[in-house]
Amino acid sequence: MLFKPSKIASDFPVLQRKIKGKRIVYLDSTASSLKPQSVIQETVRYYEECPVNIFRGVYTLSEEATEGYENSRGKVAEFIGCPNSAEVVFTRNATESLNLIAQTVGRTLPAHSNIVSTVMEHHANIVPWQVISGEKKIPLRFIDIDNEGRLKLDDLEKKIDKNTAILTFTFISNVLGTINPVKEIIARVKKINKNTVIVIDAAQAVPHLKLSVMDLGCDFLVFSAHKMLGPTGVGVLWGKAELLKKMPPYQTGGEMIREVQLEKTVYNEPPYKFEAGTPDIAGVLGLAKAVEYLENIGMGKIREHEKELTVYALGKLQKLSAIEIYGPKEATERGGVIAFNLKGIHPHDVAQILNNDNICIRSGHHCAMPLHHRLEINSSCRASFYLYNDESDVDALLQGLENTAKFFLRKWC
Ligand SMILES: Cc1ncc(COP(=O)(O)O)c(C=O)c1O
Repeated sequence: MLFKPSKIASDFPVLQRKIKGKRIVYLDSTASSLKPQSVIQETVRYYEECPVNIFRGVYTLSEEATEGYENSRGKVAEFIGCPNSAEVVFTRNATESLNLIAQTVGRTLPAHSNIVSTVMEHHANIVPWQVISGEKKIPLRFIDIDNEGRLKLDDLEKKIDKNTAILTFTFISNVLGTINPVKEIIARVKKINKNTVIVIDAAQAVPHLKLSVMDLGCDFLVFSAHKMLGPTGVGVLWGKAELLKKMPPYQTGGEMIREVQLEKTVYNEPPYKFEAGTPDIAGVLGLAKAVEYLENIGMGKIREHEKELTVYALGKLQKLSAIEIYGPKEATERGGVIAFNLKGIHPHDVAQILNNDNICIRSGHHCAMPLHHRLEINSSCRASFYLYNDESDVDALLQGLENTAKFFLRKWC
């Protein structure tokens, strides 16, 4: 072990809880991570010490809140390797960030253009584009995967052409765990069409590995605070300054204006142009604390830890004939998420039996119905790891799966 998950776990109040006298084994961080005390405390501090609006007041409390909010923007920018904090827009979540891009950049696409995505996307990165595709009557194409759940790069080269205005894809699949080779993909796309705008859904990447938007070479990148130890209600849209400047506003009113007359309005500069109304100030402050927490541990160490746990879990699960696993076989090619099925048992039944021992996994389609369709299954179980998990959590999962099989099938392999 590179660091002690049990020590890290002690920073998370919910992990000190016992339900029915048993500890909680949390294996659903892909849906939402747990929150450390420092993040919780920061949101409480805001409500106790300066629970006022930002930008609008000239009094000390409002200035303090504004300074905290803008410092958080700077911290988030630094965390994703962006030198210009004006490129960081706060939204409600990754879904809203993707909708924002679709409703601004997407809405202004020329009639002959097309949009390309992949079959492994979360619904949040499919549906907003379907809406644009339908409204503008332009094609929406999807890159296929191979039998280990990796994007087919030859298919990518077939789907992208001179008219591809947007390529939008996930950095890490929330089901298969596949880590897509973002830089290689961008290089291949740019050879075909240097004007294609690249959108990266990094909801499952920013919490788990060190990335830099400058290094990746994308145009937009989105993620959610609640998957990276931060509060719910805050998301991030990073976009290149020159693109943000050209984009029309998404929502209107509040801080996104510079001057309003009854006849017309002059909009504010980015990022404010995209932050209409009072934002989730406490949430943004909490996100900065989450960034601080992750940085204190080190993103490199977090990635290594999750890889070790994935190797451990895959090694055990792959030996079991009753288990079917989806996604790449090699842990180096995947994040800390494993989707699987226990043959002959519905995932909801598996999750229900595991819940008897407070083992929290996901069951269903994980907001990736087209991917499940592509895998020719209706649903799956999903266990995911984060910095507070250790091998004892994987062992608990395996014991729970054995209990489930014995309960429903009266046998185990
Ligand atoms: C890959 C991916 N994209 C987008 C989302 C949407 O995130 P949110 O619900 O925070 O908007 C998720 C959530 O699970 C996800 O896994």
